[in-house]
Amino acid sequence: MTYGARIAGVGSAAPARVVTNYDLAETLDTSHEWIVQRTGIHRRHLLDPETENEGELGLATGALQRALEDAGIPGSELDLIIHASVTSEMSCPSNACRIAEAVGTNTAAAFDLLAACSGFVYGMNIADSLIRTGRFSTVGVIGCDALGNVSDFTERTVSILFGDGAGAMVLRRDEDPSIGCVHQEMGADGTKWRMLYMPRREREVPEFDRDNPIKLGCLRMNGREVFKFAVTKFRKVIERAMAETGLGVDDISQFVCHQSNARIIDSAIQKIGLPPEKVHININEYGNTSAGSVGLVFDDLWRAGKIKRGDHVMCVAFGGGLTWAANVWKV
Ligand code: COA
Repeated sequence: MTYGARIAGVGSAAPARVVTNYDLAETLDTSHEWIVQRTGIHRRHLLDPETENEGELGLATGALQRALEDAGIPGSELDLIIHASVTSEMSCPSNACRIAEAVGTNTAAAFDLLAACSGFVYGMNIADSLIRTGRFSTVGVIGCDALGNVSDFTERTVSILFGDGAGAMVLRRDEDPSIGCVHQEMGADGTKWRMLYMPRREREVPEFDRDNPIKLGCLRMNGREVFKFAVTKFRKVIERAMAETGLGVDDISQFVCHQSNARIIDSAIQKIGLPPEKVHININEYGNTSAGSVGLVFDDLWRAGKIKRGDHVMCVAFGGGLTWAANVWKV
């Protein structure tokens, strides 16, 4: 018997501290106008190292707790927790295990997944597949990153892009197999890892990047190449999803896109002919929150009643690896 996977609850979380472009321009050679024009970002929420003692773990837990409340179930009913992040606090144990403790389960399987900004969509796709087999019945998927912790704020090209945030979903087994993922794609091109990476040690830095002033332990990026990759990939995965499902733009109620750069999303809107009202953008408020981004957008739409039972919704993301992922979900 094949089951379906129903979205039972959605939640998100962002730190209270807001850092505007004007704040960044106080110490960096940049301007509000440059950042808005190139990226669409006005502000971002960043964990406060002085007052915030919960870090990435607190954000991820908060998002899952809201999704559980929305679903109306206690954490003890989860049988699997998938936490997607590149900024988990320890490499052992996974943040997923600590989130499990925080939401009140000591039996659910739990693991961290690292697919950078594609992580949440990877997590949704994996959860759907595992629920369909009947192996798991109630899965918490969280995408959370605190990239402020790995941004070098003495350097202007990368640090202006990122923010901290988390999105989560509770997915439950449904007797109706037509509910859930009706199409999914996940991929990676490891030959392009050098375009977006976070070296911890000198020996991990490729020859061409030895003079990069960005500190070890912080994100480095070839912005132009990532931009080109993203624009092409966004278009390809969206067109492939529509071709494979036979669904057109009119049949899909929302395109939930990773918030990497408003210009990248605008290019998809124009090239594919997506109606702007079906592509929610919140990068102006949060910046690029990596694995947090798709869940944050989903939660905005869910709470606004713009995603309803029976709708088809498409999620699309790309990121470090370089990775990409997409799905079409019958809600
Ligand atoms: N403020 C002001 N000027 C800046 C700046 C900043 N924060 N960052 C770079 N510049 C300058 C550069 O030094 C360069 O100056 P020059 O012409 O005198 O050499 C100029 O702006 C243009 O730089 P460039 O890197 O070509 O800008 P861009 O138009 O490609 O925009 C990004 C830079 C990062 C906004 C853009 O490449 C981008 O969004 N890439 C994709 C990033 C992404 O999505 N990453 C996440 C993937 S999940």
